[in-house]
Parts: sequence; structure tokens; C-alpha cells
Amino acid sequence: SWTMKSFARDTVEQIRETVGDKKVILGLSGGVDSSVTALLIHRAIGTNLTCIFVDNGLLRKNEADQLKRKLKSHLKINIRFVKSATRFIKALSKVSDPERKRKIIGKEFMDVFEAEALKIKDADFLAQGTLYPDIIESQSAFGGPTSVIKSHHNVGGLPKKMKLKLVEPLKYLFKDEVRKLGRTLGLDDDLVWRQPFPGPGLAIRVIGEITKKRLEVLREVDAVLQEEIRASGYYRKLWQSFAVLLPIKSVGIMGDGRTYENIVAIRAVTSKDAMTADWARLPHKLLGNISNRIINEVRGVNRVVYDISSKPPSTIEWE
Ligand code: XMP
Repeated sequence: SWTMKSFARDTVEQIRETVGDKKVILGLSGGVDSSVTALLIHRAIGTNLTCIFVDNGLLRKNEADQLKRKLKSHLKINIRFVKSATRFIKALSKVSDPERKRKIIGKEFMDVFEAEALKIKDADFLAQGTLYPDIIESQSAFGGPTSVIKSHHNVGGLPKKMKLKLVEPLKYLFKDEVRKLGRTLGLDDDLVWRQPFPGPGLAIRVIGEITKKRLEVLREVDAVLQEEIRASGYYRKLWQSFAVLLPIKSVGIMGDGRTYENIVAIRAVTSKDAMTADWARLPHKLLGNISNRIINEVRGVNRVVYDISSKPPSTIEWE
């Protein structure tokens, strides 16, 4: 019978056959897909795999440091960390269109990644943690490549200056299967159960123009939300849970004074593969705690709303 163990064994064997004694490069994001891909390929070819982690400055609070520690200790793999927040934020200044944000982030990522990859001699292959739904959604689910809803830059992006061949060992798997495979391979629980996080990160959750200040506000809000969601035991039950910073202000009251501050929206959804999603029926008590804590603890926010739309017709992200 078909088990994850035998899938792992066969895939490792196939990777070995395909790659031989050549070198492989992999962009590591800290998500379960790229981590599992790294484990599989490392199993197959050991130190001939080099991973590159690009810190784009659009990650969650403390995420880059935590990931660095986790990835280092749990994946005993060659990893190069590239700090490049400044150039991403600069490139995004004054940009508010979602697809332009994605294009800019995709391009910056490719430039940083390629520069780092070029330092690796004799690299012939590029590994990607592409899943089955990634391929479907970026091809034809919404009517073919000419009507892409959101360009997912994690699919189909290849460094152009290098003639690399693709290795995509997860391309027939769904997310729940990747998590199972991760457990089979001994991946740390925390990484196995990580909720998906989009490549463009917080940039598509600060709606409209991105500033350092607004990124910082969202980062603090999101940290409070994550803490509450984890403490409540809902983290693993949700496909994703996150906050969105809106580009409008609302009037509030604090002490004797009137405030005119930011609004954040909370989004929590259940899903199997992100093709469809339902808004999560979180307990009112939990929502109340989240709202109280955000408004009390994060300066510059005086209102919290909860997103009760499903996909379709809405999408999971707001941009
Ligand atoms: P939507 O918003 O299209 O999102 O319902 C579906 C899933 O994809 C993630 N997402 C992205 N992931 N680059 C990514 O790597 C992107 O540009 C991007 N846009 C959306 C989203 O978080 C959800 O899991």
C-alpha cells in the first residue's frame, strides 16, 4: 500500500537519479513546503544541497530570528541567510497596487536570490516546494493563464542568468499530505504545523502604501493575534489567521479625548488547499480578547473588525 514512508523512499531515490553528483539550490521560506523539500533533497544528496533564506523585512515579528534558530537546529543543512529588508522596503515605497507590489517583491527576491546562487559553484538544479494546488491555481482554475487572479510569484520563477533545471518533489501533493510527509521525515512539530504565509508577506497586508511605520503597527497587531490564537488552541485548526491594516482611519475615544486612528481587520479561515476557504467561527470570547488586547497594547489602532467572507467570492488575502 502507498504510505508516506514509501513515498519518501521513492522520491529520495528519484532525486538521487535525477541530480547525480550535481549541486542543488533551494529557496527556503520557513514554511512547511520548502522545509520538507529541503529535508527530502538533503536526504538524497546531503551537502550538495544549499538553501538560501532571503529576509525581505516583510516577515512577522521575530520570525526571521526564530526561523533561523529552528532551521539551523532542526535541518542540519547548508543554509545561507541574506538580510535584505532595506532594498525591499525602498523598492515598495509609494506603491499601493497589489499586483505591482507582488511584481516588485518577486523581482527583488529574484535579484537577491540569484546574486547569492551565483556564488555557488556548479549548481545545476533549483528545487522548489511547489504543491499540486499551486500548479492548478496558477494555470487554469480561474480560466487559464490570461486571467490570473493573483500572481503567485512562488510558482514558475526561475533565476534567468542561470540555466537551472527544476526539481519539484512535492508537485503532486496537497498540504495535508506534505504535513504527513514532514512528520515522517522527522520535521519539528512547529514547522510541520506552520500556517501558510504568502511570499510577499506583510506587504500585501498593509493595504495601500507601505511605510516602515505602518509595517511596524501591523507587525505588533499580528503578534498579539498570533499569541491569542496559539494560546486558544486554534492555531492548528485554522488554515490561516492574520491581521490586515486598513488605509482608513476611524474615530474613537480614549479617556477624555477623541482619537482618530487606524482600523485593523482580523482574518481567520479554514481550508484544505486555499482554493476555497470559509471564515472561521471563532468563539466570541476569543475575538473579544483579541480586540481588547490589540486596542490596548498597540498604539495607533482604535478599532478591530472581523472578516466574515468566504472564498469564493472573496479571496483569503485582502490584496
Ligand atoms: P488568495 O488570497 O488568492 O490566497 O485566496 C490563496 C493562498 O495563497 C497565498 N497567497 C500567496 N502566496 N505569494 C504567495 O506565496 C503570493 O503572492 C500570494 N498571494 C496569496 C495566501 O496566503 C493563501 O494561502
